[in-house]
Amino acid sequence: MTLSLQPKILRFESIDSTNLEALRQARAGAPEGLCIVAREQTRGRGRLDRRWHSPKDAGLYFSIVLRPTFELGRWPLITLMTAVAVSDALANTCDLRVDIKWPNDILCDDRKLAGILAETAETELGIAVIVGIGINLKGESFAPELGAVATSIEAVTGSIPNSDLLLDELIKTICAQYEALQQADGPKQLVREWCARSSYAFEREVRVTANQEVFEGITRGLESDGALKVETASGNVRLIRAGDVTGLRPLKKTDE
Ligand code: BTN
Repeated sequence: MTLSLQPKILRFESIDSTNLEALRQARAGAPEGLCIVAREQTRGRGRLDRRWHSPKDAGLYFSIVLRPTFELGRWPLITLMTAVAVSDALANTCDLRVDIKWPNDILCDDRKLAGILAETAETELGIAVIVGIGINLKGESFAPELGAVATSIEAVTGSIPNSDLLLDELIKTICAQYEALQQADGPKQLVREWCARSSYAFEREVRVTANQEVFEGITRGLESDGALKVETASGNVRLIRAGDVTGLRPLKKTDE
């Protein structure tokens, strides 16, 4: 298969944020496929204006510039596509099965192992989407106060992965998923693949925080645009397009 995305990697020893650098490059005319990788970030950013702790060589800090030409309705699926790509890259390189919490947290043993931050930017070449990925490679990759809710590949597998191999695989899985998303049945296939990798897709009791409102319900799958369907106690099915979702009970282990 010939991939439309032609990745090119720019590496930095230290940078404020790979997403910020990708934004600057996109505004300066960088083509789709430009990847920014840094050994450390001094202003790593997470969703909802949170900080992403990024000490040297402790995590994989990566961003890619995309310039989607497909209809805007498909754009929210870019985050879900990236989560599937991260899940596949971790399975292929570290033999690690991870969970995906809507929309974009990569979990292992119910703790956060990786996060995704997708941002859009107006550029002279049109709107660019910057997709940033942070993967905790070593124990020290996350702030000590997050010890109860975060984890790393080292903590779950007992060994530190080769970050270059993981990066290569990640770029391959992103290219493959991005290509697939552009096919006529891309959204349908992606929703199916995302649901197959996420314990949050169906029948999960969750608390949703969205638009300054908090409510609880049971997940009922995804809409074709990636919105999470949550059924409340009154039987209403609400569509969640932005916000935070928390699992109310830990997932039962299948061998219990
Ligand atoms: C989140 O879960 O809140 C998203 C975290 C995204 C972190 C990555 S690290 C590489 C890229 N550069 C950043 O500043 N943020 C993203």
